[in-house]
Amino acid sequence: MADDKEHSNRENGPPWRRLRGRLGLARWLGRTWAHWTYARHVEPMWLEVTQWRVCAPDWPRALHALKLVHLTDFHGGRRVPLSLLLEAVELTNAQQPHLVVLTGDFVHAGRRYVEQVADVLGRLRAQIGVAAVLGNHDFAVRTRLARRKSGLSNRIELALRERGVQVLRNQAWRIEHQGASFYLVGVDDLWSGACNVQQAFREVPEEAPCLLLAHHPNTLEHLSNRRVFLTLSGHTHGGQVNWPGIGPVFLRGKMRRMAAGLFRHRHGLLYVNRGVGYGWRLRYRVRPEVAVFTLLNSEISSSQLPYR
Ligand SMILES: [Fe+2]
Repeated sequence: MADDKEHSNRENGPPWRRLRGRLGLARWLGRTWAHWTYARHVEPMWLEVTQWRVCAPDWPRALHALKLVHLTDFHGGRRVPLSLLLEAVELTNAQQPHLVVLTGDFVHAGRRYVEQVADVLGRLRAQIGVAAVLGNHDFAVRTRLARRKSGLSNRIELALRERGVQVLRNQAWRIEHQGASFYLVGVDDLWSGACNVQQAFREVPEEAPCLLLAHHPNTLEHLSNRRVFLTLSGHTHGGQVNWPGIGPVFLRGKMRRMAAGLFRHRHGLLYVNRGVGYGWRLRYRVRPEVAVFTLLNSEISSSQLPYR
């Protein structure tokens, strides 16, 4: 009998070692639960206002320090509460921007939430105005291979226009402000099959200062030789999960390298915004974003670095 007990003790190790093992497991479970709760319930609702100063020599001197706010990927629907979109609108208005731009995915799926999302975005206020382009979800297109036509895009366009938003569908808006002018060019989403860069730039003079709104960052590949001061995009949601040591786990290839942030491209600067909403409610180290840009003439200011 004594021999059996001794044998069992030797197999399971001393009691303190078993206790340490159980404590380690409990700690791991606790940490995992805390990370999961944070990623599911805290971060998706925790908007961050990011500030960027970008400059170019050909940006009009009269428009030096023009303030623009960029919002994207709202994904209005049953998963994304309207209160999150409303908070993004309030944070934007608090910046007192000259211009607000929206780069698509206003709804996640279907027409049910179009009017509600448009009502919230109709509260945006900017000196010059609010402009928008449509994203793949606004065309009911979920993958790059799908080419589904749908009335959804027209419905969203109409709802936004009724609230005073300029919806740019392969169009350019010539903006005059403080005695100078520039072009705001907007294209339909790349995956929708309706994107027409040539048509959008048709009336834009070659050397005119311009900004481009395009939901998908890859739209830049279709620009031929055109130079654009700044292209504003979304679509990636920053990958939604940016795991330490691994990076954006749900993105592949180029999208992974350009998940979020400011990039220098042969056509000019590209900004990929992390978005406001989400497809599935999970964000980890990729907070939803309200991006504020101050556009500078480089002869007046030489700072190109973001201040944060
Ligand atoms: Fe999106």
